[in-house]
Amino acid sequence: MKADISQDVWIERAQKVLPAGGFGNFDPNIVIREGRGARVWDENGKVYVDYLIGSGPMMLGHGNPEVLEAAQEQLGKGLTFFASNARGIELAEEICRAVACAEQVRFVSTGGEADMYAMRLARAHTGRDKILKFEGGYHGMSAEALMSLAPTRLENFPLAVPDSAGIPQSVRDHMLIAPFNDIDFLRGLIAEHAGEIAAVIVEPLQRLIPPAPGFLQALREETEKHGIVLVFDEVVTGFRLAYGGAQEHYGVTPDLCTLGKVIGGGFPLAAIAGKSGIMAHFDKAKVGEGGFTFQVGTLSGNPVAAVAGLKTMEVLSRPGSYERIRQNGETVMNALREHLSAAGIAHQIVGDPVLFDVVFTPDPVVDYRGFQRGDMDRLKRFNMLMREQGVLKPDSKFYISLALTEDDLALTQEAIAHTAKHLTES
Ligand SMILES: Cc1ncc(COP(=O)(O)O)c(C=O)c1O
Repeated sequence: MKADISQDVWIERAQKVLPAGGFGNFDPNIVIREGRGARVWDENGKVYVDYLIGSGPMMLGHGNPEVLEAAQEQLGKGLTFFASNARGIELAEEICRAVACAEQVRFVSTGGEADMYAMRLARAHTGRDKILKFEGGYHGMSAEALMSLAPTRLENFPLAVPDSAGIPQSVRDHMLIAPFNDIDFLRGLIAEHAGEIAAVIVEPLQRLIPPAPGFLQALREETEKHGIVLVFDEVVTGFRLAYGGAQEHYGVTPDLCTLGKVIGGGFPLAAIAGKSGIMAHFDKAKVGEGGFTFQVGTLSGNPVAAVAGLKTMEVLSRPGSYERIRQNGETVMNALREHLSAAGIAHQIVGDPVLFDVVFTPDPVVDYRGFQRGDMDRLKRFNMLMREQGVLKPDSKFYISLALTEDDLALTQEAIAHTAKHLTES
């Protein structure tokens, strides 16, 4: 593919008008021009097999013809209305059919917003202030979510460490931080603060780290016992680990969940979904002035996003879709194991076949600190070598799409073989 303006020129232009030269999301030294299927092209025309997939939404790959057709049909009928619209209502209905905890749905535009409102709903519902989150858990960019998200300074639990400037001390005082997968610590912490905790918010599969056997069940038991709202952040796992998300995959039903990424089909759309008794706090007529959680958003329930999400979900729900995605992931996981082991490089493949990464450590990874003990410089070099070989991935993830072809997987396997061979060279 021919490029008109070289990538270097775009990078230079970006440096003038964008802080840190980019959108704040990803390495600003790559500017993506186009995506088709499981491949993307940069502004120099270099092609990559894409494991970034827009940070997760493009689970069918780029330019899926059915999604495009649905979105295009809607484009002709109107881009956004603010008012309720049939497509958004259909999407809410499908979420309620698919997701175990979902009796009602409220749409927002981003996953981070959904998480912020889920925590607020829990506070409104319980009349308590404290939120328990897990170290390293990602729940968007609200002040609460930025506590102990990616701390470089490790504090004693349950003290929270802010990961951003600009957050008042008072927020920190309302947070309790626990290590993921530590059932005993969790039980102790909840017992100590039971009457003060509004919500426990958790990524059921935290970044890449699967829940230990019994961990989510213990969370469910403890929160139920103490009237604490259990929130599963399913922004990543929703419609990805299974059609019904992590709650279907692991067989544990929370009180609320948050959804994003897949349900917008590549457009900005996210949701809070959950039990109607808690969702009622969005309805002043039901809960009165005192319990009302104020929530509006210009683009909430946007019809173009809704049809793209619905079509994406329909394709995923067809027989064989998840099996195929899992097979694609296993092919990549096996190649990583095989070639890194052959090169004598200590590593763990952490995650699930639909999303995972390599962590360069000899020890099993069960929590954030275990992940941090991995060799980050080696991971950076791994990502760089993979990119040189034509594989684009996030800093610490492979996101697997349905669009990967045998050619894409073969290219990925070759890139892994090459990278493993050259990884330890300086
Ligand atoms: C688990 C999780 N929650 C919430 C979010 C925030 O979603 P958004 O970027 O749409 O605000 C993300 C984003 O990657 C996420 O991974």
